[in-house]
Amino acid sequence: MDKKITIAIDGFSSTGKSTLAKQLAKELGYVYVDTGAMYRAIAFFSMQHGYINADFFDKESLINSLPAIRLHFQFNADLGFAEMYLNDENVEKEIRTIEVSNFVSKVAEIPEVRTKLVEQQQEMGKNKAVVMDGRDIGTVVFPDAELKIFMTASAQTRAQRRFDELIQKGDTVTFEEVFKNVEERDYIDTHRSSSPLIKADDAVEIDNSNLSREEQFELVLDLVRQKQ
Ligand code: DC
Repeated sequence: MDKKITIAIDGFSSTGKSTLAKQLAKELGYVYVDTGAMYRAIAFFSMQHGYINADFFDKESLINSLPAIRLHFQFNADLGFAEMYLNDENVEKEIRTIEVSNFVSKVAEIPEVRTKLVEQQQEMGKNKAVVMDGRDIGTVVFPDAELKIFMTASAQTRAQRRFDELIQKGDTVTFEEVFKNVEERDYIDTHRSSSPLIKADDAVEIDNSNLSREEQFELVLDLVRQKQ
């Protein structure tokens, strides 16, 4: 019987963290937790309630509303992964728009938001056998994770991937818009005072600009086997 471990996958936006995490979870029979979806759901909630728009952000109202925000994941067997629910409503589609991407870093900067979500993430992963992806999993959520991966790729490569994804979904965005969003999120994610994106000392860094999905998967699976 293999030892159950915790796998933390962190890195910049659109490095394919969730694709890798889903593949690993499926292969190992582990639970996959997309923590970015949780921050996105809170950004979506803020938009729905008029707390955030291009010109202003009423942080106070969002912080006061936090106790009333319930998030959970529900596995969808047809899709093969768990979808995000905000106060019992499936928001999986709504949280993937470019508008949410534009606001989410601002929401993720708020310490009260991070405290709430980190607690919930720690609870979800307390029994191990979990693959969690985000920005602070190996540094804050599970500093003792047996395997930590830090994923990078050039901003150009990542923007192209994100652009292709959005176009495929029928979104009308320009490459420049997506590229700008990727660069802005990188800046905010790495410069915020509360849990900035940094590589944990014991994380294995993988630059996947020139790796195929399969090559990357095999590489990480090999690392998993060494820890089990
Ligand atoms: O992984 P993603 O692009 O869906 O994440 C959306 C945003 O949420 C990203 O800009 C940074 C933030 N985030 C975070 O601050 N901490 C996490 N653990 C996950 C995401």
